[in-house]
Amino acid sequence: MKTDMTRKIRKMSWLKERLSRAVRYGLFYSGVWTLGIFVTLLWHSRAMIEQSIASLNMRAKESFEKDLIIRQWSLLHGGVYVPVTPETPPNPYLAQLPNRDIETTSGQKLTLINPGYMTRQLHELGKKRFGSKSHMASLNPINPKNSPDEWERGALLAFQNGAAEVGEVAAMGGVPCFRFMRPLATEKRCLFCHEKDGHRPGEMRCGISVAIPISYYWEEMGNHIVSVYMGYGAIWVMGLFGIALGTRKLSAYIGHIRKTEETLRDGEEKYRTMMESIGDLVYICSDDFRIKYVNPAMAAKMGRCDINARCHEAIYHLKAPCSWCAFDRLKQGEQVVYV
Ligand code: HEC
Repeated sequence: MKTDMTRKIRKMSWLKERLSRAVRYGLFYSGVWTLGIFVTLLWHSRAMIEQSIASLNMRAKESFEKDLIIRQWSLLHGGVYVPVTPETPPNPYLAQLPNRDIETTSGQKLTLINPGYMTRQLHELGKKRFGSKSHMASLNPINPKNSPDEWERGALLAFQNGAAEVGEVAAMGGVPCFRFMRPLATEKRCLFCHEKDGHRPGEMRCGISVAIPISYYWEEMGNHIVSVYMGYGAIWVMGLFGIALGTRKLSAYIGHIRKTEETLRDGEEKYRTMMESIGDLVYICSDDFRIKYVNPAMAAKMGRCDINARCHEAIYHLKAPCSWCAFDRLKQGEQVVYV
């Protein structure tokens, strides 16, 4: 009755231990896996953001370079004449030039467009078409429309301190944008119109800025990001599934080992009880006649229990194996009975 109860209790605690061990393994490896996926996802997201910023930076640079080439083309000709229209009236800031407005032989009125005026008009067209916004700005502008905003002012001051360009994520009118600005060096040929507003050759008082709304770019990137996140999600779920499967197998294996151990322990207990309770003399010898086990009846007969002593010496006090030794015959499977 008592042994039954003990056995039941042992079985229950073993089951509890087995279950909690499996759960512990599962939770531990799931945690490590989730953390690993999370860290990789963070790293990948960071790399994607860095890559997006690098592309934005490249796009902004391209826009700046294009502006520069158009400006250079205009400067190459000292400005260009275009027909006067409501959208392109004569530039009041060029009023001092004698040839600002001319007339063709057929009576068509033309007005001089300086690089700055042209750039401003191009930027307005570009804003409608591309969503990005370019702006020419100076610390002391001729036209107040070309006054810098706070961010541009910071960049212009940085150019005066030697910065070659400024590019970063910053808000423009409350909209998060990638903003980029490079300076325009004042040259001798600029002074013809800009000397009176304080420009000196070699100075970096002005520049062109480009603002690309990040949302505009994210829309393009959106699908890519969603598919990357979904891929990570699928790998994560697959990993969890694998861990659950592995944990189950491991727990079954642990269970199997425990069961075998229990069976062996039970068997050994049974045979020990049997050997200890019978009155027959039992001992077990190794191949080289050394005593490996004696049961209590045999131990009582020998007086002392010499484990590892040679059997013929310990039991019969003989130097050599006994002449009646049946060991060889036993090894060949014969049954030997002494009466
Ligand atoms: C033909 C005269 C002329 C020349 C030459 C000229 N500019 Fe201008 N620039 C102007 C005028 C006029 C404006 C104002 C245009 C407007 O209406 O936005 C202007 C505007 C600018 C602006 C915008 C800020 C402001 O002052 O309003 C920058 C920057 C600028 N010019 C840089 C240059 C540089 C650099 C050079 C030489 C490489 C140059 N310009 C040569 C006439 C000139």
